[in-house]
Amino acid sequence: MSSLQPMSEQELTDVVIERFASTPDDRLREVMQALVRHVHAFAREVRLTDDEWLTGIQFLTAAGHITDGNRQEFILLSDTLGLSSMVDLINHASMVEGVTEPTILGPFYVPNSPEREFGASMIEYADGGEESLVEGCVTSPDGTPIAGAVIDVWQNAATGFYAVQQPDVQPATNLRGIYRTDVQGRYSIHTVRPTPYPIPDDGPVGKMLSATGRHQMRAAHIHVKVSAPGFAPVTTHVFDEASDYLDSDTVFGVKGSLISAFTPGDDGLLHCAVDFTLEPTH
Ligand SMILES: [Fe+2]
Repeated sequence: MSSLQPMSEQELTDVVIERFASTPDDRLREVMQALVRHVHAFAREVRLTDDEWLTGIQFLTAAGHITDGNRQEFILLSDTLGLSSMVDLINHASMVEGVTEPTILGPFYVPNSPEREFGASMIEYADGGEESLVEGCVTSPDGTPIAGAVIDVWQNAATGFYAVQQPDVQPATNLRGIYRTDVQGRYSIHTVRPTPYPIPDDGPVGKMLSATGRHQMRAAHIHVKVSAPGFAPVTTHVFDEASDYLDSDTVFGVKGSLISAFTPGDDGLLHCAVDFTLEPTH
C-alpha cells in the first residue's frame, strides 16, 4: 500500500501495530500492540468525536494535575473502572484454598508507618469513632502460626478521612501502624471501627462518577498488608459486616471472605476477630 493512498480504519490500526513490531522486549511489544488494538477498537466502536477525544485528553490532564505525593487520581480512576480489581483477579485467582484473599491497595497507602506494640492503640486523634480491638492469628494454610509476621495497617478516621487527606487536622500517623505477630502468631490492633467514606470527589474521577450517576462510597474497611519471610505477602481489607455499600462498593473491592463482625465485648470495646492465612512461596 502506498502511503499516498487513503487509509481505512483497519489499515491505520494495522500500520500502528506494525510500527511496534521491532520492540526488543517481547512483553513490551505484546502490551503495546494489544493496547493499540484495543484503544483503536474502542474509538471505532463508539465512533469517538473530535470533542470527545479532547474531553478525554482534558480528563487525563486534570488527573495528572491533581495527582501529587499525597493524592493519586490515577489509582482512583483505575479503582473506579474496576481495573485494579481485574488485575487482582488475573493475578490471584489461582490461590491455594484457604489463603487470605487479596483486594485493591487503594490510593491512601503511606509507607513507613510507626511500629506499634501488641495491642497498642493507633488512635492519635479523637474522632468520636467506636474503639475496637482487631485481633487474630497469622498462619500458614496448615494452621501453623507464623511468628514475627508483619501487619501494616491503615484506615480512615470516623470522620471519613485518612490522615494523609487531612495533614492540618490529623497527626500524620493517626490510624496507621506496623504490628508484628507474637510467638503464637497472634496480633492485636487497638483502633476505631471503620466507617464508609466517599472517595475524593473534587477531581476528574469524582466528576466522572457524578456524571454517570454513580455514588462515591466505599464500604467500611481497614486496609492491611500482611507479610512474613517465606510466604507470599497479601494486600487486603477487613470489611465490617454491618457496613452499608458492601454490595455496591464504588471501587469493586469487596470479597465475601473478607467481611468480619465487630461485636461488643465486656471491656467496652468492639471486638473483630480476623485470621490471616499466607501462602508459602516454596
Ligand atoms: Fe480505604
